[in-house]
Amino acid sequence: MSPSESAAPAPAIRRSGTGAVTVRVPAKVNVRLAVGGRRADGFHDLATVFLAVGLYDEVTAAPADELRITAEGPGADAIPLDATNLAARAAAALAARHGLEPRVGLHLVKDIPVAGGMAGGSADAAAALLACDRLWGLDTDRADLLAICADLGSDVPFALVGGAALGTGRGEVLTPLEVGGTFHWVFAVADGGLSTPAVYAECDRLRREGGGGDLAGEVPDPVADPELAAALRDGDPYALAGCLVNDLQEAAVSLRPGLADTLAAGTRAGALAALVSGSGPTCAFLAPDADTAAKIATTLGPAARVAAAPAPGAAVVVA
Ligand code: C5P
Repeated sequence: MSPSESAAPAPAIRRSGTGAVTVRVPAKVNVRLAVGGRRADGFHDLATVFLAVGLYDEVTAAPADELRITAEGPGADAIPLDATNLAARAAAALAARHGLEPRVGLHLVKDIPVAGGMAGGSADAAAALLACDRLWGLDTDRADLLAICADLGSDVPFALVGGAALGTGRGEVLTPLEVGGTFHWVFAVADGGLSTPAVYAECDRLRREGGGGDLAGEVPDPVADPELAAALRDGDPYALAGCLVNDLQEAAVSLRPGLADTLAAGTRAGALAALVSGSGPTCAFLAPDADTAAKIATTLGPAARVAAAPAPGAAVVVA
């Protein structure tokens, strides 16, 4: 798949002079997250709409004797700095695909909230993959890169692609969507993350408690919303506001009840609509314009971030 044509242009490439390669990669918000029943493999079928937003991590890959990983930025101390890190796994998977040893030092500069429901870990994996591909001069096919991304995690392919896309399967099967304008968002970053598996498990528990069952076959199949696709295509924030859905929101609020107050505060401050981002706990607010977004962020306080969408996918910025 090629990057969505609606995405903002990728940044220009600066020269490194050191042989190192830096990739910039965006966060995402799910403007629709329709969650089906639990499958036999433990995952849930989704009909989700990913929108890449202008909050970015940067991953630098430099030659090293062996695979090493370091990180800086807010929340970086909560990230595992070993072979379990998804960015390290991305480098190892690419090396294995080409019969190489993953001799690389990866450095992550975090700006995407850690464990915030904005796919920061997935973004770092996509960025590491692209950075290593360039560093090692592999020029791997886009389709192969996307296949490695899908093996690494449900949200990883979208971080490579950016823009906006419908995600089906467990989220990894992407169909690009056209975006006809800029959408202005505010993100309220919570203290401490939420575990994605725990939020899915809570969603299942609430479904069982409600008497409807939680298995695929017991829950209606998740479906796409044509009105949402039209709102994106028209660049119409008022129409988009009426389409925002997150089936994980009730579960995230159940695990973190304070999120209900945050969602209400952003709406009072002028947001057209509010929702939990992905599995949370970051709350996302859609604003009618950039000025209102800035005002909402001021009202919500220092943990609020403004970001425009769509953003381009992972892109080399230094090489
Ligand atoms: O794919 P990823 O590794 O990001 O998923 C993390 C966890 O989130 C999975 O182990 C699973 O518990 C849950 N998940 C799910 N259904 C999806 C995506 C994720 O149940 N479609």
